[in-house]
Amino acid sequence: MMLKIRSAALLLLLAFSSASTSVFAHEEHKGMHQWEIPSKDPDRIILTFLGDPATSRAVTWRTDNTVPQAVAQIAIAGVNSEFAEQALTVKAQMEPFDMGVDTKNAPLTVHYHSVNFENLQPDTLYAYRVGSGKNDFSEWLHFRTAKAAYSKTQFVYFGDAQNNILSHWSRLIRMAYQTAPEAAFAIHAGDLVDQAHRDQEWAEWFKAGGFIHRQWTSIPAAGNHEYKRLGGERKLAIQWRPQFTLPVENDLPKELHETAYTVDYQDIRIIVLDSNWKLGEQCDYLERQLKNCTAKWKIVTCHHSIFSPVAKRDFKYGREHLRPLLEKYGVDLVLNGHDHSYARGHVRHIDADTGEEGDLGAVYVTSVSGPKQYAADPKEMARYAKDGYQPDKRTNLVQLFQVITVENNSLNYVAYDVLGQEHDQFAITKDFKTNKRTWLRNK
Ligand SMILES: [Fe+2]
Repeated sequence: MMLKIRSAALLLLLAFSSASTSVFAHEEHKGMHQWEIPSKDPDRIILTFLGDPATSRAVTWRTDNTVPQAVAQIAIAGVNSEFAEQALTVKAQMEPFDMGVDTKNAPLTVHYHSVNFENLQPDTLYAYRVGSGKNDFSEWLHFRTAKAAYSKTQFVYFGDAQNNILSHWSRLIRMAYQTAPEAAFAIHAGDLVDQAHRDQEWAEWFKAGGFIHRQWTSIPAAGNHEYKRLGGERKLAIQWRPQFTLPVENDLPKELHETAYTVDYQDIRIIVLDSNWKLGEQCDYLERQLKNCTAKWKIVTCHHSIFSPVAKRDFKYGREHLRPLLEKYGVDLVLNGHDHSYARGHVRHIDADTGEEGDLGAVYVTSVSGPKQYAADPKEMARYAKDGYQPDKRTNLVQLFQVITVENNSLNYVAYDVLGQEHDQFAITKDFKTNKRTWLRNK
């Protein structure tokens, strides 16, 4: 009995001392959830593409500002822990980041660290970890490099996450991972968060995805909610460039660096556009990226829908200026977000002289992964008929993710709801010599 009383007293003392520590020693963390608070342990670890996906992979992470120089380690993964002895250590680049620039955030400076693993072997399962180089490492994590040549590829595409990300988007991304664990990468078609600079929302996005962001490689596009006024100017989320290590296209204005870029993965070209601004420059960029492109499949993603299914959200510029390029250069699939609704349709080339319908053109998808939902307006879809657009599927009020698989001559697409149930699907086949596409399935 005496022992129990003593233990209780000790517990009380410990509880008191820990409470006083959190109040007095960490005033700068006031109002933050425990999972937002940076520490010497790495958090917000995420893989992105920088360079050839067959031989390189970029990783970015965050610590508090007590870690001036971090490292990443990488080795070919093994069946037991001995692989770690062969690990190569790579020094990280560090970028201090003052999140308090937005006064809604805590007044903290954190450190972002990044490494681009290079000279990797194609089609190889690697294990990596990141940390301070002392004892403060992440767990070992896996990714597979791309094959050097065209081969079966599976990937996932998400529309807007945006709101209540931790409470309601987490089950969506986790169901996506359960459904397609072999996916090589995940396209996020903009509006990852609601208020661009708000650090708590980015913390939610990373907590919702957890290790998934560390093992799938992300291809993020910037949505309108990734831009917000700060210091009198509309600015890209202050976290974007520090936390995503992405390709810099030097032929684009610097404002578009890391928001408009191209990834070539196993002979699939994925072009990411920033549909928020500077669209003329991006039309030229899109044309340059498509004109001499010999990739077997061409996919374009941007936030705003080329064929918006919801009233008053028309992306006229996209339809009038981007769309002709998508059609002219044989883009297969266009992946959008923004409208908080689901719509899939396609266009057919129309013969300028006879007006007759020709071959199957691009398939256009608008989707949503988060809880905010708008109702689609059938009248919007109907008015695109004159542009040769034909709606195939339109639904409301469902959180969705899409799994896309290319293999041999076919592209297979399945949209799943948050319960993991199939919601929509199609498949096309393509003659790589003539680039002529035909439906295999259009449910
Ligand atoms: Fe949006």
